[in-house]
Parts: sequence; structure tokens; C-alpha cells
Amino acid sequence: MRSQVAIIGAGPAGLLLGQLLYKAGIDAVILEQRTPEYVLGRIRAGVLEQGTVDILDLAGVGARLHSQAMTHDGVEIGASGHRHRIAFKDLVGKVVTVYGQTEVTRDLMEARAACDAPSIYEAESVELHDISSARPWVTFVHKGVKQRLDCDFIAGCDGYHGVSRRSIPAAALSLFERIYPFGWLGVLADVPPAWDELIYADSERGFALASMRSETRVRCYVQCSLDDKVEHWSDEQFWAEFKRRVGEDVAARMTTGPSIEKSIAPLRSFVAEPMRYGQMFLAGDAAHIVPPTGAKGLNLAASDVFYLYEALSDYYRRESRAALDQYSGRALRRVWQAVRFSWWMTSLLHRFPGEDPFFGRIRGSELDYLFRSDAAQRSLAENYVGLPL
Ligand code: APR
Ligand code: PHB
Repeated sequence: MRSQVAIIGAGPAGLLLGQLLYKAGIDAVILEQRTPEYVLGRIRAGVLEQGTVDILDLAGVGARLHSQAMTHDGVEIGASGHRHRIAFKDLVGKVVTVYGQTEVTRDLMEARAACDAPSIYEAESVELHDISSARPWVTFVHKGVKQRLDCDFIAGCDGYHGVSRRSIPAAALSLFERIYPFGWLGVLADVPPAWDELIYADSERGFALASMRSETRVRCYVQCSLDDKVEHWSDEQFWAEFKRRVGEDVAARMTTGPSIEKSIAPLRSFVAEPMRYGQMFLAGDAAHIVPPTGAKGLNLAASDVFYLYEALSDYYRRESRAALDQYSGRALRRVWQAVRFSWWMTSLLHRFPGEDPFFGRIRGSELDYLFRSDAAQRSLAENYVGLPL
């Protein structure tokens, strides 16, 4: 088997790259170790920057998003029992789109199936070979048969646990990591949101986030300890804790319901540099992880993929390697902006276990400054809606 590009992983990064390359007439095979159902079963964040929406449009998968997604002009930040609105549209003239990552993935999968481009699901034992040579190749086992895919380039879109980053010699990579000493317990439920915009709430009992997927579905989170287990939380306990944190007025008017999904996610910042080794390019979670507090994970995957698509198009159209050579530096610059913002939002809105009283006061003072200063609000807004591509 041969294709110009081998894409490892059919998460949003791999699928989006596949669609963009297809539109540019560059052929690619996607290898995914799981089933489509498994990929669609993962619940992740749901806030899209305008730049991400533009890239989805470029890939030709924006139709359902434009008819169904909600746009939000701001978010609310809760602290000390009060809520303050950060009015994105007034502050920086932009909005965000609220549309679940699962829906983005579904739209991409359907578009790929419709254009008959090859995706191989349940590809086991994927291995990358000769990635620093001009002729890399990939082997995998499908339905018990070992196969070989020859290609010009490999796009490592296989997430944090994937094989692509691990195929780079350790000495060629620099890794940066921060583990936060808490997790987020998330619940998805079919009840109408009692909030118009997302609420990020700091409280004495810990952080809570009120989000939504539609007019009839909410996604809510509470900060929990790292050794907590989903089984320890009944739906009733979750909602009781969420109500204590989100603010009395919201708690009083909200309806609750059985969870459709409940899971705990650890919070981590992680970056691998560079995002290229020879003919292999990393994109999305394979190269970096951000804590969900800034809603940047999917948006970063989209910007990486856009840069990589531009670079590969340049190579095939004009035989120019310049953009390929610039890919890692260009992507990492944007990645670090989002890593900084996500770290800042996380530090601002969470009580750290055993927090030093000095830092507690600094955190309180930073929140106070945010609520009183137009400049501070503009900075949050500018980052949240997305820095330019
Ligand atoms: N071989 C083939 N596929 C693999 C392998 C492997 N060895 N390892 C992992 N994969 C697949 C996974 O099963 C998954 O479907 O790669 C895909 C990676 O998808 P994601 O983890 O969703 O990563 P990405 O596409 O970069 O999406 C980034 O997801 O985690 C969120 O916050 C993140 O929203 C962001 C988005
Ligand atoms: C979500 O809706 O799941 C969500 C929204 C915003 C975040 C994180 C998660 O910052």
C-alpha cells in the first residue's frame, strides 16, 4: 500500500488533516487503533475559537455546526459568591462557538466516509520505520494480517498515548510537564442549562464549571482529588456538590437529571519539542496537553493541523520545503501561548491542596484585579476567543 501521507490516529487532529489534504488533492491513509464507536464515545470539551470554525469550514465540514451550534459573547467568572461577566464581544469584538468535540469528530468521520477516502480502524501494532529517511513506512496488523504502508510523510495525530512521539529517539526530544494536584469530575446530562453562558466558578469547596452542549444538554464539572473514583460519586452527590459551588441563584433555578456520562480527568500541561523528526510531524495531543480550564485542547489540534496542511500543500504544489521546516517553530509558538493561558486560568480558579496562604492571597488579589480592570478582562478575552493563527 502507498500514499503520500500516512496519518496515525483518527481523533479530531487526524480526521481534520485528512479532510484538508483530500480537498487539496493530496492522498492520505488514516490508521486508527480503535473502532469509530469508541472514538465517538469519548466526551471532551466543547468551545471552538473562530479560527477553528474557519478551519472546519475550509475542510468543508461546517454545515451542521453552523445550523446547530450556539455562539457565546462572553463567560462568567464566579468568586467569593459573586459572578462577573467577561464580555468578549465588547472587549475584543469576537465570540466563541459552543459545539461538542464529539460532534466535530462525527462531522469529520461522515465527510471522510462520503468522499471514500481510506481509513483503517482497528489497526493494531502500528509501528513507524525509517522516519528520518526520505522513504518512511508504517506497518500494522489489520484483521490478523500484517500490512505495510509506504509514504512520503507521517502525521503523528495519535494523541498523548500514541506511538508517534515514542518513535522519536529520547535524545532528540525536550519534554516539559506540569501535573496539577487535582482532577475534574465531569457529568453529561439531558437537562436544559440554567445558565446562558459558561460559568467558571472558584469557591471555598473548590472549582466548578457549568457548560452546555445544546439547549437540552449540560456538561458540568467539579474539581476533585486525584485519588477520587467515579464510583464514589452518585449523581445526587455530584449535583449537590456542584450546586454548592456554582452560586446560589443558579443552584436555586437549575434542574438536574441522571448522568449520561461521568468521568474523572487529571489536569496536566505537557509539551514535546520539536514537533518534527525527519519526515514525521506531530500534531494535537501527540505533542501537547493543556488542562481543560482554558478550553484550548481541540483548538490547538486544529491550528497545528492547519499549519501542517499548509506546509504539505506547499511541498506538493511548489516542491518547497520551507514551510515544512518552519512547521514546528510556528506551531510551538501558538502552543506555548495556550499552555501559558491554560496554566494561568487553572492557577487562578483552583484552590491547590495545602495552598500556601501567601499564594491564596495573591490568587484572591488577581481575581479582584480581573474584575476591576478592563485591561485584565481584555487579556482574558483575547486569549479565550483565540490568538490569531
Ligand atoms: N495507532 C493508531 N492509532 C492510535 C494509536 C496507535 N498506536 N495510539 C492512539 N491512537 C488513536 C487514538 O485511539 C485516538 O483515536 O489516535 C487518536 C488520537 O485522538 P485524540 O486523543 O482525540 O487526539 P487529537 O486528535 O490530537 O485531539 C486533540 O482531543 O484530548 C483532546 O483536548 C484534546 O480536544 C483535544 C483533542
Ligand atoms: C466542556 O463543555 O466540556 C468544557 C467547556 C469549557 C472548558 C472545559 C470543558 O474550559
